Amino acid sequence: MLGIEHPIIQGGMHYVGYAELAAAVSNAGGLGIITGLTQPSANDLANEIARCKDMTDKPFGVNLTFLPGLAAPDYPGYAKTIVEGGVRIVETAGRNPQVVLPVLKEAGVKIIHKCTSVRHALKAQSIGCDAASIDGFECGGHPGEDDIPNMILLPRAADELEIPFVASGGMADARSLVAALAMGAEGMNMGTRFIATQEAPVHENVKAAIVAASELDTRLVMRGLRNTERVMTNAAVERLIAKEKELGDDIEFKDIIEEVAGVYPRIMQEGDMDAGAWSCGMVAGLIDDIPTCKELIDRIMSGAEEIINQRLGGFLNA
Ligand SMILES: Cc1cc2nc3c(=O)[nH]c(=O)nc-3n(C[C@H](O)[C@H](O)[C@H](O)COP(=O)(O)O)c2cc1C
Repeated sequence: MLGIEHPIIQGGMHYVGYAELAAAVSNAGGLGIITGLTQPSANDLANEIARCKDMTDKPFGVNLTFLPGLAAPDYPGYAKTIVEGGVRIVETAGRNPQVVLPVLKEAGVKIIHKCTSVRHALKAQSIGCDAASIDGFECGGHPGEDDIPNMILLPRAADELEIPFVASGGMADARSLVAALAMGAEGMNMGTRFIATQEAPVHENVKAAIVAASELDTRLVMRGLRNTERVMTNAAVERLIAKEKELGDDIEFKDIIEEVAGVYPRIMQEGDMDAGAWSCGMVAGLIDDIPTCKELIDRIMSGAEEIINQRLGGFLNA
């Protein structure tokens, strides 16, 4: 469906998913994805798509995230840019992407909707999305409000969905890929793991923080606003959680604006690791190096072959 060699996708990531990372993942045989809304305008996105094309002739995608609450970005403009830029794959995420579907589908763009529940995946299927990316409770970013981990969510998706899906959230290595395949997924989507790569265009402090973190170092914030986000803990996050405890159900977005609004450039580009809350998955506990995207993907593919042939094959032969 996607024209890629290996069943590994790099999910859209705010201030991380630039052309450099998308091209590196696609050149390594996976599917790299540019984060649409990190580009301030549709024109900027057109330039980023052109830059990516200069770096790879392999397929890559663009992520369009539909967030609640904020003044709506120019989604039709971004969609038009994607089509005109010749991009063949779009990862949608968040709210219902209906507003961009007609123009994308008419152009033959394949749409992978990333969502955190079976009911949302079924909705995506019913409105014409081609595939789903199922983001379990483990995931970095927005895990939704159901708190269902992938050991349950993936087989549930396999039972219900007719469109193909990939596993997302907590995926890091060959074991993740084989487990995802065993549970009915066609492949896997990774976020946090791809930040800790040579080509990810973020400050070295971000990569070092992921390598140093264990699986115990993420926190859930903004649950009271029904906009739950899994983030790496730091001084700003501890402050945010203290405010959440103090204000309880009365909390409003304005109360935590200092910890969450506009902090990504300071973290991802300047490396100020206490500037605010930034998305990170529990999978940080499985990440202890900073390989190139090619080294990472090759290692996953050869490791998966070994697990299937030797470990799983051993069960058959026993
Ligand atoms: C720093 C960061 C920023 C992210 N930004 C976005 C985003 O803008 N849009 C989106 O759809 N997903 C975003 N995600 C989610 C990822 O695309 C992916 O679904 C998630 O990271 C998978 O979980 P994992 O981190 O355990 O691999 C982000 C994740 C991280 C870690």
